Amino acid sequence: MDTLTVKKCLFPVAGLGTRFLPVTKEIAKEMLPLVNRPIISYGVEEALNSGCSDLIMITGRAKRSIENYFDRSFELEHLLKTRGKDELYEKMVAISNMAEILYVRQREPLGLGHAVLCGEPFCRDGYFGVILPDDVFISDKEEATPPVMAQLIDVHNRLGGSVIALEHVAREDVSRYGIIRSEVLSDGIHRILDMVEKPSIEEAPSRYAIMGRYVLSPSIFEILTKQGAGAGGEIQLTDAIKTLAKQEPVWGVVYRGRRFDCGTQKGWLAANVQLALEDPELRGVVLDIVKKVGDTSSGQKG
Ligand code: G1P
Repeated sequence: MDTLTVKKCLFPVAGLGTRFLPVTKEIAKEMLPLVNRPIISYGVEEALNSGCSDLIMITGRAKRSIENYFDRSFELEHLLKTRGKDELYEKMVAISNMAEILYVRQREPLGLGHAVLCGEPFCRDGYFGVILPDDVFISDKEEATPPVMAQLIDVHNRLGGSVIALEHVAREDVSRYGIIRSEVLSDGIHRILDMVEKPSIEEAPSRYAIMGRYVLSPSIFEILTKQGAGAGGEIQLTDAIKTLAKQEPVWGVVYRGRRFDCGTQKGWLAANVQLALEDPELRGVVLDIVKKVGDTSSGQKG
């Protein structure tokens, strides 16, 4: 199966990161560490491993550190080289060689739909991917699960049309996501009939939530141009895809793999602990701390 038909991938990264204040006052939330590398690097790796080669970041004025991260740092490289730290030197060079990335400024924070519209000049000639880097997906290595973007591209290649990633979420979580109404086909594939951004539990048409991965038809741009503000007073991508689904097929795919919600402090912290526990060098450190805390609190009780 050819999984290389979607070459372009947009990364909306202009968000202000208010859920992480005060740390995001000066640091881009996409640059927060997930163990030892920034959150954004996981999304970039996923796009590259899914066959996307042209990456476009929709960025904002406070996000220069993302550009710097993926650029060469001659001073640092020179220092590492002259100090004989060859392994680290190679690692730093590899980061800047990872991908060709274009950067476009979203001048006003008008919402996710508007951010995607900013990518139109680069994506209007074919289907393109969108990765929301807050949703970090880790593929199951033992089961050799393909990256989630590759799973979406595969559905696009088989059925045509646009594709979004879905997860069946807990009832109390539906108001945090875009929620779909669908007709269920086989193999965890849905035909999207309707969708609503961040509904109340009562309004939610199902418990299938949109996760931050999309393969979109370029027809979305014309819809977005006319799209008024929706939930939260922002131009919502969900509202535009809802209109798209009335014109062209939009599929939902219940992804395989693990998701870490790095868009909230709790989710980000949990992801760090979980991934550290899975790292052979860090596992012992986390378990020691937990054990010490456990011993202290049981000592206090006694
Ligand atoms: C965005 C989308 C929402 C989607 C969510 C996934 O919301 O608007 O439809 O369910 O990402 O993480 P945000 O998290 O930016 O509020």
